[in-house]
Amino acid sequence: MTDELGVVVGYDGSPQARQALRWGAAEAAARKSPLTIAHAWQWPHHEWPGELVPLELVRRPAQRLVKAAAAGVAHHHPEMIIDSVTGRDSPSALLADLSGQAALIVLGTRGYGTLHSMAAGSVSGHVAAHARCPVVVLRGDPAGRGARDIVAGFDGSRASMAALDFAAAQAHRLDSTLHVIIAQRGRGGQADTHELRIQTQGQAWDRLTCRQHTHPSLRTEVELIDEPARAALLEAAYKARLLVVGARGLGEVRGMLLGSVSQALVHRAPCPVAVVHAR
Ligand SMILES: Nc1ncnc2c1ncn2[C@@H]1O[C@H](COP(=O)(O)OP(=O)(O)O)[C@@H](O)[C@H]1O
Ligand SMILES: [Mg+2]
Repeated sequence: MTDELGVVVGYDGSPQARQALRWGAAEAAARKSPLTIAHAWQWPHHEWPGELVPLELVRRPAQRLVKAAAAGVAHHHPEMIIDSVTGRDSPSALLADLSGQAALIVLGTRGYGTLHSMAAGSVSGHVAAHARCPVVVLRGDPAGRGARDIVAGFDGSRASMAALDFAAAQAHRLDSTLHVIIAQRGRGGQADTHELRIQTQGQAWDRLTCRQHTHPSLRTEVELIDEPARAALLEAAYKARLLVVGARGLGEVRGMLLGSVSQALVHRAPCPVAVVHAR
């Protein structure tokens, strides 16, 4: 895995995608990394049944769309390395494919959608589940709320360890406080007890102590909340500029790539959500 594409934004020209592009460009600037604008286009055979549509008729507008988007970003960030990729594919497949060379993928909550793409908004869930790098879904209005903290959900799982590392790096870069939440464990697996949560809190502090070496000015809070994880994190999201969770948790449901808590947050949180996979 490499990250030569830097921050990859899934772009379809919709207002949500433009918001994702602004966020992604600011993120690439903060990381001093390249920005890649990705757009998937598809053969519109549903619209013209039986008729031959020259491929160029679809390909060219797609290329114009990303070139125009790149020019817009270059205007604000003249020093940034900006690339664009178009692919004849489903948006989910293209972005999952690019994730192997990306540092981060940024998506709007929903785009224009086409007959080919899945139900509106499900691209984000699919990419969050399949990507090989962290994925940020731009929920809510990231500019409008003035929230400062970065909130991370921690359950002691491998993915939530990776989420904590990602959240610490973001908090350090953005000069935000990192607020770690340890909520009740759901049904299945070990039963939830206060002792278990104290133990998980210890794991969080150990992990944060490691991060403190690389990010000495990092400010952190760890909070135990006696509520189910989904409710606790949704509540905290109202005061967060970014909510960070692992793709999976401690649950044992095999075959699922996205846990139930992370899935719910990707679809309902009032702020941008980052989904991070275990390394
Ligand atoms: N009890 C919890 N407290 C805080 N965060 C949690 C808790 N449970 C889950 N999370 C967060 O949500 C992520 C995904 O977990 P989850 O959706 O529960 O997956 P699974 O179904 O595999 O358990 C975790 O990596 C963690 O970031
Ligand atoms: Mg769980």
